[in-house]
Amino acid sequence: MKKDLITLAIETSCDETSVAIVKNGREVLSNSIYSQIDIHTKFGGVVPEVASRNHLEKISQIVDISLKEANLEFKDIDMIATTYGPGLVGALLVGLSTAKALAYALDIPLVPVNHIEGHIFANFIEHKELEPPFLCLVVSGGHTHLIDVKNYNEYEIIGKTRDDAVGEAYDKVARTLGLGYPGGSKIDKLAKQGDKNAINFTRTYLEKDTFDFSFSGIKSGVLNYVNNNKQKNIDINIEDVAASFQESVVDVLTDKTMMAAKKCKRNKIAIAGGVAANSRLREVMLEKCKKEGYEFYYPSIKLCTDNAAMIGCLGYYDYIIGARGGLELNAIPNLKIGDK
Ligand code: KG4
Ligand code: ZN
Repeated sequence: MKKDLITLAIETSCDETSVAIVKNGREVLSNSIYSQIDIHTKFGGVVPEVASRNHLEKISQIVDISLKEANLEFKDIDMIATTYGPGLVGALLVGLSTAKALAYALDIPLVPVNHIEGHIFANFIEHKELEPPFLCLVVSGGHTHLIDVKNYNEYEIIGKTRDDAVGEAYDKVARTLGLGYPGGSKIDKLAKQGDKNAINFTRTYLEKDTFDFSFSGIKSGVLNYVNNNKQKNIDINIEDVAASFQESVVDVLTDKTMMAAKKCKRNKIAIAGGVAANSRLREVMLEKCKKEGYEFYYPSIKLCTDNAAMIGCLGYYDYIIGARGGLELNAIPNLKIGDK
């Protein structure tokens, strides 16, 4: 009988220190996440130096917690998977060095994993029936990509943002509204009490047939709206601003995704990344998919934001096609989708 493959996966690309134990790619035995959000909130955003120092302080402890939760010991682990890019270089290096040390000491393979591709793979964990090909909208704090997932290791980028990532726009608008960092989930919550049609913020679709995005216009639109009203001493309704901003962003994201699905002839759509936790994005995407007769997939909130379970899932699929990292493996802060 084929032996199970147990992966210990590490993720430290930004402000979450996470370690997961994953069996055969799709069964998560543990997924421990230590979030540094409270530490960075007082600075209004992630401070790279502070992030790496906190990863360093926590990583060994999170490895132990994750093993304990999975009821396993180091001797049970068959391979180590780690994010090696994209992300903050100092933060990435903490996870990568830990992974190298473990792989060397335990004499087991090390598999380098691309963080953005990892977000896509979060969908496989809870949807056992999901198989490529499908179209995936990856929306996070640093990325906005429409990707045709042709196979487990074959991707084509159909479109991407030309300026701000959508999560970045959420965070900047949240700051303008005085909501603090990170703003995405706060805008999501506030928008539920607002009128989404109150303010008609611009929807930027760019050229007719492009699947690229641009969010800097909408971000400036909100900024100007808030400042103009402030100057005139007019009170603004921040719930309405949050709802109207969100509606324009969600309209563009979902319209372009549906257009891309048609072009790529895909009838399965998935979303991934931190912004995939957004309740309005999920709602509108589901409505549009139902109308077209497409299947729609999204990960649970814990698997949308940064976590090591998704790294363990992708690590397994990369491992079976022979991906390996040696002790010379370095962190690549600007690693692109499909780069190996
Ligand atoms: O994927 P992620 O955890 O980290 C990166 O790889 O960037 O994404 C973080 C981003 C932040 O910009 C955060 O504001 C956004 O995801 N986010 C949300 C929601 N939850 C997190 N944006 C909109 N609605 C949410 N519910
Ligand atoms: Zn991420």
